[in-house]
Amino acid sequence: MNTPPPPLSWEAAVAAPDTARARKISRIGILTSGGDSQGMNAALRAVVRAGIHAGLQVYAIYEGYQGMVQGGDKIRRLTWQDVSGILQQGGTVIGSARSSEFYTRPGRRQAALNLIQHDIEGLVVIGGDGSLTGANLFRQEWSALLRELVAEGRLTQELADAHPQLALVGMVGSIDNDMFGTDMTIGADTALHRIVEAVDNITSSAASHQRTFIVEVMGRHCGYLALMAGLATGANWLLIPEFPPEEGWEDVMCETIRAGRRAGRRHHIIMVAEGALDRGGKLLTCDYVKKTLSERLREEARVTILGHVQRGGAPSAFDRTMPTQLGYAAVEQIAHTAPDDEPQLIGIRDNRVHRSPLMENVRKTHRVAELIKAEQYAEAMNMRGRAFVEAYQILQTVMLAQPRPPKPGQHQLRIALMHADGPAPGMNTAVRAAVRLGLDKGHTMLAVQDGIEGLARGKFKEMQWTSVHGWVARGGAELGANRREIQESDYARIAEHLRAQRVDGLFIIGGWMGYQFAYQLHQRREHTPEFRLPIMCLPATINNDLPGTEVTIGADTALNTIIQVVDKLKEAALAARRCFVVEVMGYECGYLALTAGMATGAERMYIPEEGITLDDLRADVERLATSFRRGKRVGLIVRSERADMYYTTDFIATLFEREGGGCSTCGARFWAIPSKADAPRRLTGSKRRASRERRCNF
Ligand code: F6P
Repeated sequence: MNTPPPPLSWEAAVAAPDTARARKISRIGILTSGGDSQGMNAALRAVVRAGIHAGLQVYAIYEGYQGMVQGGDKIRRLTWQDVSGILQQGGTVIGSARSSEFYTRPGRRQAALNLIQHDIEGLVVIGGDGSLTGANLFRQEWSALLRELVAEGRLTQELADAHPQLALVGMVGSIDNDMFGTDMTIGADTALHRIVEAVDNITSSAASHQRTFIVEVMGRHCGYLALMAGLATGANWLLIPEFPPEEGWEDVMCETIRAGRRAGRRHHIIMVAEGALDRGGKLLTCDYVKKTLSERLREEARVTILGHVQRGGAPSAFDRTMPTQLGYAAVEQIAHTAPDDEPQLIGIRDNRVHRSPLMENVRKTHRVAELIKAEQYAEAMNMRGRAFVEAYQILQTVMLAQPRPPKPGQHQLRIALMHADGPAPGMNTAVRAAVRLGLDKGHTMLAVQDGIEGLARGKFKEMQWTSVHGWVARGGAELGANRREIQESDYARIAEHLRAQRVDGLFIIGGWMGYQFAYQLHQRREHTPEFRLPIMCLPATINNDLPGTEVTIGADTALNTIIQVVDKLKEAALAARRCFVVEVMGYECGYLALTAGMATGAERMYIPEEGITLDDLRADVERLATSFRRGKRVGLIVRSERADMYYTTDFIATLFEREGGGCSTCGARFWAIPSKADAPRRLTGSKRRASRERRCNF
């Protein structure tokens, strides 16, 4: 029998440093450079802690390259505790600055001397392409800089010989998501959250006045934020640098808005990337768009430039977990490479950590800018990657979609949409897209209300363009979603209703029940002709427990809801030494608990995949009590609702209360937070229930 690996924890990691890995390099420096971005702190925390785990000494270089040139107290060793409580903080706690001195040779010489004085042999740089290029140049010049320092008498030959090379690893910290070598840059996801929140707020005002809003978002020369925010908010027009609009675009834009008004749309959003260009390479400004609308539509549009709000605030769940994984991998990389190895960029590709040559990525990134300048837009788009191109095509289709009659001779399909299983955030967005794209293709779109049960009762409703108005931002499931079981006899009624409604295809947006239901219909198709129709499942559940996809619709929102709640709990706990046992949903899947634990810096996660043993509990209570005795102020345990049948959340809190009784010096209190409090967009009314207190008189 395989024994499961012991639970991993940072404390355990510190206790057992992997000295074998640390043989090549023993001291590294880390700096954040360029524009700050949310998630830089998560990367820093991971580098420091994984570095300590690997037996390295990690030095923070405060204020980026400026601090490297200045030296002194700008270069300081960080301990485990120094990076405590920073996971949820936006910006970068070690600062970032633009340094004119580092651009000069004497500046870089001084920076090299400062690093050698701290015996730093490797650098982890978190920044954009400019910062990473600077780091590589510095690394290439390293030997020459040292020779110059020796010649100037500022460095001994012996010390220079002891530091022949500087190892380098890069991570991309930038909200722009403009860099090769990673699917997502650190901060881009949070910036999207900020934009989506802002546009959601704008939308209600815009709808009240039937207005058009022109929203400018950041991104420098990259249209990623505008494109994805356009998709996420249901924008009606998009301007990005990679694909300037064709001549005469102003007419098409105005016609799209007119068509929207005719279809009953009350507001319009025009998303403009700050670097958007026209075909002549001229900057397309919000003011120009506003003037165009006012001249051609006689409409007073409003402009909102979101600015640095996009770079502010707490990082999203993704911008905590992803940089944590990257930071860990960056340490593995730097500890394993010989200093003269080619520097690597640590990024993410298809949800996995991905290493690739740093400078090749920088070169490719610059190539996109060159292609845009040379007006080779198709190539520029392609270089941004498949996901970018696909998102652009989808947005174009959705933006230009409008209710249309079927084309002459076209067979008009009747497509039924339904949910199965519990509600998940994002279900409404999916229904909206399906309804509008279906109507645009001239089909009839039918909604089944109340899931499988509704289907058995024939609860169909024909959807119009305006039926899904505003659904892009609405949580829950407007069509109704439930887990009510159906009987064998219901299948005959379902067949009858599918026949009566002449349904040509069934689109199920939901969880495991949806998968099972689709399978049941498919199994019966031989004897029931009504079930011989195309059936499609779209995985939607907060649990993220479905086969065929890495992330289900709803899981990301659930995670973000959990971390927002836990951030607040931790703030409250800081004031009075507390430990929370937070229960999260997930059924038999520990994804939410595990990922939320990583995103909130939990001490321990209990998940069904691992189960809970009495030995675990004993070890955990002792470990926590010790940490509190050593001055820890906040404790957090995340328990998946089905981690164990017997060791419930209440039980754990009670057990900790009882068993921790001997450690009276600690004075921490345990609070059990049941999972209903963490259900996304289902928070109403449950907060009171969530505050059952469990005292733990250590
Ligand atoms: O690169 C990140 C970024 O936020 C860009 O999107 C934006 O163009 C630029 O930085 C703004 O720079 P600054 O913070 O120096 O004004």
